Amino acid sequence: MIKLPTPDTSHHSAIISLGTYRPARIVKNDELAARIDSSDEWIRERTGIIERRFAAPDETIVTMGFEAAKQALEQAEINATDIDVVIVATFTHRYQTPSAAAEIAALIGATHASAFDLGAACAGFAYGIGIADALIRAGSASNVLLVGAEKISDFTNFDDRGTAFLFADGAGAAIIGQSDVQGIGPTVWGADGAAREAIIMEPDTVTAGKQGVPSLLTMEGQRVFRWAVGSMGEVCDRALADAGVTPEDIKAFVPHQANMRITDALVKRLKFPESVIIARDVTVSGNTSSASIPLALDALRQSGSIKSGDPVLMVGFGAGLTFAAQVALVP
Ligand SMILES: CC(C)(COP(=O)(O)OP(=O)(O)OC[C@H]1O[C@@H](n2cnc3c(N)ncnc32)[C@H](O)[C@@H]1OP(=O)(O)O)[C@@H](O)C(=O)NCCC(=O)NCCS
Repeated sequence: MIKLPTPDTSHHSAIISLGTYRPARIVKNDELAARIDSSDEWIRERTGIIERRFAAPDETIVTMGFEAAKQALEQAEINATDIDVVIVATFTHRYQTPSAAAEIAALIGATHASAFDLGAACAGFAYGIGIADALIRAGSASNVLLVGAEKISDFTNFDDRGTAFLFADGAGAAIIGQSDVQGIGPTVWGADGAAREAIIMEPDTVTAGKQGVPSLLTMEGQRVFRWAVGSMGEVCDRALADAGVTPEDIKAFVPHQANMRITDALVKRLKFPESVIIARDVTVSGNTSSASIPLALDALRQSGSIKSGDPVLMVGFGAGLTFAAQVALVP
């Protein structure tokens, strides 16, 4: 029997850089509230959201993801040709094929990279960190470009009182690369397809198979709320324990920016000391799904609240239902 080479698995991985893209158009609660018999006050009180960004008609997953990727690449000080894998986490790319990742790889000049899209909705970025970490430690890649990009406004029913005010658009990116020390803790992840209908974009029953156009997003808000608050605490506990740290060791908590009340409930459940900084980017960004964690992480970095080397706990959760959490060091 031939002997296949044993891969060199002695590498460490870390998040090397971050990039973001926020569309220019700011949408205040009042703009959305009238159509759903709601108010700025109700939306703020139930979600913490004050405003969000909507992409322009000509902006796409590819254009927004490319802008974020460009920033991450510049900051990482590597050449695009040094990227081995491009992963785009998204659930709002309009094409079944080709992938947004292949397009972004071409635009950025990552001519040696493999590329694929990752469908884990709001857990997409945290899933991607776990995959990139594993690829690098296994010796299968040296540099991975991970992008989370969404244009959820394309799939929002602005007459739906349960979703019209929650979701938004944007993109975040990270380069995950080889490092002298391990900068990414073990990823705790999972999925529960039995709850698939809790957040869903079904194929349009009229055009499915012809144009393949997904219908607008629908959500059982209270069910998702209870699931996130009831089960993400334990997922975070496990991510902390697997990384060998306690809540006191963490500099910042960066949960998926779904809703301020979910964040507040998780903060209470995890018993973080006052010193731990809590990401609250949802106030100005809404829920941008796979883009929310990198946008929130970068906002904390830009404000000077966290600095390179600080340990942060990230947790993503959403449609699937999917979830993923890990501790990582700030690039
Ligand atoms: C969407 C969400 C804010 C709705 O809040 P809720 O408290 O569950 O709302 P309910 O549907 O139970 O309605 C409660 C009351 O508010 C009213 N209401 C519902 N939507 C409203 C709106 N947009 N504006 C004003 N009032 C509204 C209802 O009529 C109801 O009034 P009543 O008590 O007089 O009957 C909440 O369920 C939520 O945040 N869920 C989690 C969603 C999420 O984060 N998903 C993404 C995860 S990735």
